[in-house]
Amino acid sequence: MHTRYHSSKLKIVTTFHRPKLDPSPSSYAQVNRVQRQDAEQLLEEYSKIIRWRNNGKENVLDIGCGPGDITIDFVLPRMSRPIGKLVGVDVSEKMIKYAKRLYECEDVHFQTLDIENGDIDLFLKDYPEGFDHITSFYCLQWVRDQKKGMKNIYNLLKPAGDCFFAYPVKHAVFEIYEELAKIPRWNTFMASNCDFFASFINQDNAADTIYKFLKLTGFRYYNVEMVDKRMTYTGLDNILGFITTINPIIPKINNNERTEYLKDFLKIAAELNVYREARNPSESEFATPYQLVVAYAVK
Ligand SMILES: C[S@@+](CC[C@H](N)C(=O)[O-])C[C@H]1O[C@@H](n2cnc3c(N)ncnc32)[C@H](O)[C@@H]1O
Repeated sequence: MHTRYHSSKLKIVTTFHRPKLDPSPSSYAQVNRVQRQDAEQLLEEYSKIIRWRNNGKENVLDIGCGPGDITIDFVLPRMSRPIGKLVGVDVSEKMIKYAKRLYECEDVHFQTLDIENGDIDLFLKDYPEGFDHITSFYCLQWVRDQKKGMKNIYNLLKPAGDCFFAYPVKHAVFEIYEELAKIPRWNTFMASNCDFFASFINQDNAADTIYKFLKLTGFRYYNVEMVDKRMTYTGLDNILGFITTINPIIPKINNNERTEYLKDFLKIAAELNVYREARNPSESEFATPYQLVVAYAVK
């Protein structure tokens, strides 16, 4: 189901810096099935809207590319030949090192860049013309200062360039984080989703707020939709892989705490009816609806 949102008043996001998530690239690449499905399906669906030129030589930037598989498997095939440059950027050096090793070639590059706090002018020295298209999947929820992130995206685009991004704004995981934050032991690591995510995450006004940020940034055309999805992970190993690789707390705690944290996580998940523990762990299931924000904007 798609819902369209329109603006009314703007919410200002305050910032302070916290370490970002930094999972192991190979572990992440083993559990990003849902992200891959969503990116592939959305790129297919929205490709009629994205202004891909059919005579090639376009520059495309994929923000928060992680291990680079989505950039290569789903973004690259959309570009008409001969391509200009395809550049994957990520704040994580580990991710970029991994993506470079697997996928870098003549016109496909991977570089570190923090879309929130990075030096965009310095980055653009390598790509002085800027980018015809920007894509981003499952990344921009981590940008706490959305005003700054959007402005940076705008500045990276050529005139009339467009951007297409999608990320989860409502998800059981965000609910679970809020509940874990009520437990004193975990509260010191994360007092609320706002410590790590954009302030509108898990809020009803998310699409409305993103719409206002796009408008405020100066995009000529912008559209924001909420898309309802459902995901299922079966088998305890897969569930734990999913929970741990995208978790902002896990890298901060030791192994003993980690076991306790995961127990608490799954207990809350069971209370929220999104986790069902089976006698045979390979049959346990984590299943939840979630909502993705899907936005398209033209400079
Ligand atoms: C969940 S992964 C998504 C990776 C890939 N796009 C996918 O959909 O599988 C989120 C990625 O965003 C990156 N990220 C988080 N904050 C970022 C920022 N401010 N600038 C650039 N990348 C960022 C993380 O390092 C991580 O690799």
